[in-house]
Amino acid sequence: MAKVLLTEDEDSLRLMTRTVLELDGHQVFAYANGQLALDAFEEVNPDVVVSDISMPLLDGFGLLDAVRRLHTGSVVPFLFLTARSEHEDVRFARSLGVDDYLFKPYDAEELLEAVRTRLERRRVIELFESRQAHIQTIIMLAKLVEARDEYTGDHVQRVQFLAMELGLALGWTPEAMVILEYGSLLHDIGKIAIPEAILNKPGKLTPEEFAIMRTHTIVGEKILRDISHLRRAVPYVRHHHERWDGTGYPDGLAGEDIPLEGRLMAIVDFFDALASERSYHHNMPVEQVLSLIRENAGKHFDPIMADVFISLQEAKRLGQA
Ligand SMILES: [Fe+2]
Repeated sequence: MAKVLLTEDEDSLRLMTRTVLELDGHQVFAYANGQLALDAFEEVNPDVVVSDISMPLLDGFGLLDAVRRLHTGSVVPFLFLTARSEHEDVRFARSLGVDDYLFKPYDAEELLEAVRTRLERRRVIELFESRQAHIQTIIMLAKLVEARDEYTGDHVQRVQFLAMELGLALGWTPEAMVILEYGSLLHDIGKIAIPEAILNKPGKLTPEEFAIMRTHTIVGEKILRDISHLRRAVPYVRHHHERWDGTGYPDGLAGEDIPLEGRLMAIVDFFDALASERSYHHNMPVEQVLSLIRENAGKHFDPIMADVFISLQEAKRLGQA
C-alpha cells in the first residue's frame, strides 16, 4: 500500500480516480486544486503524486515545481493526468521533471500500472542508495581502525575481496554474501580499543600485551551487537582468530563448532597478512603462503575451506579464474 496524493478539480473524475486507487489498496489523499495539495504535502508525505494539469489557484505545473523545491518532495514520483490536446504541455512537464503522464480518458488498469511502475522503481532506487550509504559508512569505520595500524595498508579491503571470492566459491547464499560483504570489512573493528604501542610494536608481543591484543575480538562484538543492521556480522568479528584444532581465541572452539564465518575469515586474514606487503612479514611469495595454508589445514584451518581457497588462488595464478 502506498500513500497517493491526488489532485483533480473535476469532482466526478477525482472520485473515480480515488476509487480506482483505493480498490487497489492505496491510501488516497484527494484535493480539488494544486494549492490545497501543496498545503497538505508535507503532512501527507506521499509516496507518489497523481495530478491534473489544468486546475484553479495552482495548476499542475505550479504544483510540480513547488513540490520539487521541497526537501521531502524532490524525489517523489510525480504523474500527470492530461487531455490529449495538451500535448505541448507534456513537453513543458518533462522539463520540470515529471516522471510519467496519462492521457485522459485513461482506464483503471493504465493508471494502476503507471503508479505501480513508479513506486517499484522508487523502491529499487531507495534500496540501492541506502545499501551504498551503509557500505560506505562501514568502509569509513574500517579505515578509521586501519589508520591506527601502520602496517596494514589496504588490508581490510583486500581481505574483503578475498573473502567474497571464497564465499562465492563455497556457494554461499546471496543473503550470506551480503553479511560477508560488511562482516569482512568489520572483522577487526575491535582494534579501535587496542593501544597504539601494542598495535604497532615492531617485535614480538609480551604475554601481557598479547592478552590485550586478543580482546579486539570481544570488544568488536560489543561494538556491533546492539546495532540491529550490523549484528549479523558478529561471528566474523568474534571468531576470526579461532583455530580448527581448538587452540585459538577468544573461545577456543574447535572444528565445526567454529562458526563458518570465523573459519572463512581465518584463512583470508592469514593469507593477506603474509602475502601482502607488510613490513614485518616481508611480503612472502603467494606459493609459499598457500603451502603454509595447506600444511595447516586441519590444524589452524577448516580443511575443506582451505582446499577450496588454495584451488581458487592457484587457478587465479594460472590465469584460469
Ligand atoms: Fe583480528
